[in-house]
Amino acid sequence: MKILITGGAGFIGSNFIFYMREQRPDDELLCLDKLTYAGNLATLESVMDKPGFRFIHADIADREAVYHIFEQEKPEIAVNFAAESHVDRSIENPSVFLQTNVMGTQVLLDACRKYGIKRYHQVSTDEVYGDLPLDRPDLFFTEATPLHTSSPYSASKASADLLCSAYHRTYGLPITISRCSNNYGPYQFPEKLIPLMIANALADKPLPVYGAGMNVRDWLYVEDHCAAIDLILQNGKCGEVYNIGGHNEMRNIDIVKTILAILGKTERLITYVADRKGHDMRYAIDPAFIHKELGWLPATKFEDGIRRTVQWYLDNRSWWENIVNGEYQTYYERMYANR
Ligand code: NAD
Ligand code: TYD
Repeated sequence: MKILITGGAGFIGSNFIFYMREQRPDDELLCLDKLTYAGNLATLESVMDKPGFRFIHADIADREAVYHIFEQEKPEIAVNFAAESHVDRSIENPSVFLQTNVMGTQVLLDACRKYGIKRYHQVSTDEVYGDLPLDRPDLFFTEATPLHTSSPYSASKASADLLCSAYHRTYGLPITISRCSNNYGPYQFPEKLIPLMIANALADKPLPVYGAGMNVRDWLYVEDHCAAIDLILQNGKCGEVYNIGGHNEMRNIDIVKTILAILGKTERLITYVADRKGHDMRYAIDPAFIHKELGWLPATKFEDGIRRTVQWYLDNRSWWENIVNGEYQTYYERMYANR
């Protein structure tokens, strides 16, 4: 199979490329990425010159470029990871989120219609469901939960999901959608909670916890997400939405304390800062459907995954130090200096 993977120079997309090369070495993988601040060719170094892999520098919202790629390459499957993905940045400047996440998705869907595709898979997020209250631990997001977004990021992702469903119903495009909970693992950009806390703790810098740190996220090791997407590509039903999550709900403060404990650093580094605007309280996925339909279950326990992740950041300091010592410093100042 020839698979177009958009956003493959980012966190989950790159892990998906590594996963597929391991699991399905006969597939031909084409990575299309704009290389925004979050895209990093260093991540793809180990596959860059290998047979069966090719990198194409392009913007998913550039219709001419995307049509040209589809015309030339004729991918059989497209998996769209490309997105602006950070909630805090979307609060600061929503425009690029609409441009990439909504308009970019539309361009990809149009290209699939025009040139044909066996399957288009949209990588979405549990954030499209909004949040759940902390005092109702019995509630979970199912595929039937209404979309109810909080941030410009989640609104843009929900819009893209609706477009995908509309292209399925109206034009019969063979699409699937997955909505996953928070991922963690190697190659995550250090603006996100877990790598940010690891990097700051290693530098003995304050760990900025928003609000009281009571917000709950449902954490999944990135490889388990990749395995779920692979299963959906193999056996998923067109037009279907699949929720992906591992029943691993944790409060932010407990995540931060776990990281400090693994690194042997003091909890005095924890600093409570002003809360995120519109901060979602709790995300929790009910993964019963994907388990029943496709037999998917997460393989990595959080205790193992978080240790592996911390160890990866210890072993790959140059990967993230190059980031945090660059343009990221301006971002960090802007976001955290007077918080
Ligand atoms: P990321 O920010 O690490 O990577 C995004 C990648 O997309 C980067 O390589 C970037 O260069 C590329 N990109 C951005 N705009 C582009 C454009 N216009 N054209 C082409 N490439 C572009 O994001 P991630 O955490 O790997 O997330 C990947 C996908 O998974 C996103 O769609 C996100 O919404 C979704 N998701 C993420 C999580 C999570 O916890 N990180 C959870 C559920 C769903
Ligand atoms: P994040 O990794 O940005 O993912 P998302 O917002 O998509 O869930 O944040 C995870 C949680 O951690 C979220 O509740 C916000 C919180 N957080 C902090 O407390 N401090 C930080 O510096 C960051 C980046 C996040």
